[in-house]
Amino acid sequence: MVSKVFWILTIFVNFSAIFGQDEFIDCEYFVSLSNEYTCWLAIYNPNGLDNFTDVTGTHLPEKSDDDVQFISIRMIPITPIFPSIICEKFKNLNTLNIHSAGLQTIDDKAFENCKNITILDIYANNMLNRIDENSFIENLELKKLQIKVTNLSSLPENIFKNQHKLENLWLSVNKFIDLPKNIFKPLKNLRTIALNSNLLTTLNPKLLEPLENLEYLNLDDNQFEELPANIFNSFTNLKEIGLNQNKFKVIHSDWFGILPNLQSMYLYTNQIIAIDEKLLDNTGLNELYVLRNVCADKNVHDYSDSKELLRSEFKQCFENYENLFPSKSDD
Ligand SMILES: *[C@@H]1O[C@H](CO)[C@@H](O)[C@H](O)[C@H]1NC(C)=O
Ligand SMILES: *[C@@H]1O[C@H](CO)[C@@H](O)[C@H](O)[C@H]1NC(C)=O
Ligand SMILES: *[C@@H]1O[C@H](CO)[C@@H](O)[C@H](O)[C@H]1NC(C)=O
Repeated sequence: MVSKVFWILTIFVNFSAIFGQDEFIDCEYFVSLSNEYTCWLAIYNPNGLDNFTDVTGTHLPEKSDDDVQFISIRMIPITPIFPSIICEKFKNLNTLNIHSAGLQTIDDKAFENCKNITILDIYANNMLNRIDENSFIENLELKKLQIKVTNLSSLPENIFKNQHKLENLWLSVNKFIDLPKNIFKPLKNLRTIALNSNLLTTLNPKLLEPLENLEYLNLDDNQFEELPANIFNSFTNLKEIGLNQNKFKVIHSDWFGILPNLQSMYLYTNQIIAIDEKLLDNTGLNELYVLRNVCADKNVHDYSDSKELLRSEFKQCFENYENLFPSKSDD
């Protein structure tokens, strides 16, 4: 009994300590294992104010704001916006890692002064509802950007306008239904893009076309049944593609064209009845994962490492394709 009362009191006191107090932004500073001077950030800002004049916390000896390279989150922050003082104060920041922040909005002031940032990781836990078109306009050095677990159903068309150096873009676990067709146009240097776990049903043929250096493409866990012809055939550097957990019934080789560097394809958990065997002739594929489909369910191996094994392993899928599309298989 005593202990129960004790815990109830403790919880109550802790809650009122947080909810009764004024807004704050606080850093605990330390040098990370990778030798980066780090601000371990706590924010309490339930009303989304952006007029902070101070970030509290004491620097390590001989360190200053200009030395801070890395920010990660110490306490689950409570703030619907990302206060602009953080980028104003830590001008040389290299990595900003904002996760589970309850962010609702990202505006063009949030990252404006983070001019040297190369890695921005926004993992917003389903709250983020709005992101302004100029949110990243000053972040010319970005190499890796992650916008994950949000409530966004699309993104503004010009949002990546200045990300010419971007190599990795992770847009997983959002609620994207569609994306504007020119959104990826500036991303000539992109190597990896993840669009998995969204609600995409179709891809505009122009959408991915500008990504001429793409190596890894993840489209797992969407609602695709069909894709346009030639959709991937300009990706001559493509190594790996993920199409797991969609609604594909037939895999056509004309989605891919001639792709000698394509080595791995993931097709788990679709409703596939047929695959065009020309896929093996036209690409470098030696890893094909097809479990939990109609034509490859229980009696196939999960993994293969040569074209010959793949040909025998998924024979049923290839034969079905010849029967369904005799003219396509002959040309
Ligand atoms: C910030 O704005 C709020 C609400 O308008 C106000 O109450 C507070 O005093 C302001 N803080 C500063 C530091 O100006
Ligand atoms: C950004 O990086 C460049 C070169 O790495 C450096 O000269 C500059 O001082 C850094 N900081 C800002 C705010 O541009
Ligand atoms: C997510 O967006 C939908 C509409 O797009 C809205 O009805 C819902 O309230 C939003 N959820 C949150 C947590 O903001």
